[in-house]
This record gives sequence, structure tokens and C-alpha cells, in this order.
Amino acid sequence: MAEKDWLAFLHQTLTPHRVEHSLGVAETAASLAEFYEEDPERARLAGITHDLAREMRPADMLAEALMRKLPMERVERQAPILLHGPIEASRLAEEGLHDPDVLQAVRLHTTGAPGMGKLAQIIFVADAIEPSRDYPGIDELREVSRQGLRTAVAACLKAQLAYMVETGQLIHPRSVATYNSFI
Ligand SMILES: [Fe+2]
Ligand SMILES: [Fe+2]
Repeated sequence: MAEKDWLAFLHQTLTPHRVEHSLGVAETAASLAEFYEEDPERARLAGITHDLAREMRPADMLAEALMRKLPMERVERQAPILLHGPIEASRLAEEGLHDPDVLQAVRLHTTGAPGMGKLAQIIFVADAIEPSRDYPGIDELREVSRQGLRTAVAACLKAQLAYMVETGQLIHPRSVATYNSFI
């Protein structure tokens, strides 16, 4: 499918506020890609597709992850929402999207991973700072986003982990591993 078709699929699949978020991630990622000398079109495609599985019911996410034999840890069984990136990456590959960097960016956008590539880093940061996001400290993150990609990932992850601890959410061990490798 061409990008245009993924856009149409985005509009069919997600609620308006999440369409707005996904388009915001796509544009922010494209702009970061230009800044960091990556391909803006691949960044845009990863942004458009990254949350396509985000609105599935948790029970359906578990079932689909099992059906697709995706690796699962205890934390994912307890919080199936953590599976929406891996599920979507697996679906996209099945639907003919074979760019390994785009698939990695979609798969890892929730937790990051210590060895993630440049495009995955760009999506991770864009997911945190796209224009429709609004939370304390975001303006600083938007500034840091252009002070080095690894620095930006570390700053976004720090804010994400602090928020998750504060609100009592489960933290994926991979998020901690990512944090340790990026600070
Ligand atoms: Fe997501
Ligand atoms: Fe997202």
C-alpha cells in the first residue's frame, strides 16, 4: 500500500483525537528526520501507522499477540496495551510493508529499546512531543528534541517513566533498559 492508502486506513481505524495524534507524530517525525538527516517519508509513514492497533480492546490485544506468537512478558499480560506496537508491526509486515526500520519504529515506539535505530528514536521522540500533546515540561522536551537525538530520547523517557511511576502504572523492563542505555 502507498502512503495515501495508509492515511485512508488511519482515518477508518482510529477515533478523531488519535488520528490527530498520529498525523502530529507523522509531521513531527518528518521534521526531526530532516533535522537529523533521516528520510522524512519513512518517518511520516511510521508516524501514520504507529498507533493503528492502539484502540483494540485489551483482551483482543492479548488474543492477537498470542495468535501472532509475539514475545510476551508478564508485564504485557498484565498491561496488554504495551502490545499495540508489536501487534501493529506484525500486521504491517503481513500487509506488505517490509521496511525494517519503519517496522522497528512501530514495534518499539512504546518502550524504545537499547539498540534501536535512528528512525525508531525519531518516532519515540515525536510520539512524546507532537503538537496535540500537552503536559508539564513538554516545551522543554520540544527544545531538547533538537539538541541531539540520543539526548532527546533520554529526556522523553525520563519524563515518561516519572509520569508512569507517579500514576502507578506498570513499567516494561525494556523501558528501564532503554533509559539505562540512553542516559
Ligand atoms: Fe502508541
Ligand atoms: Fe502514539
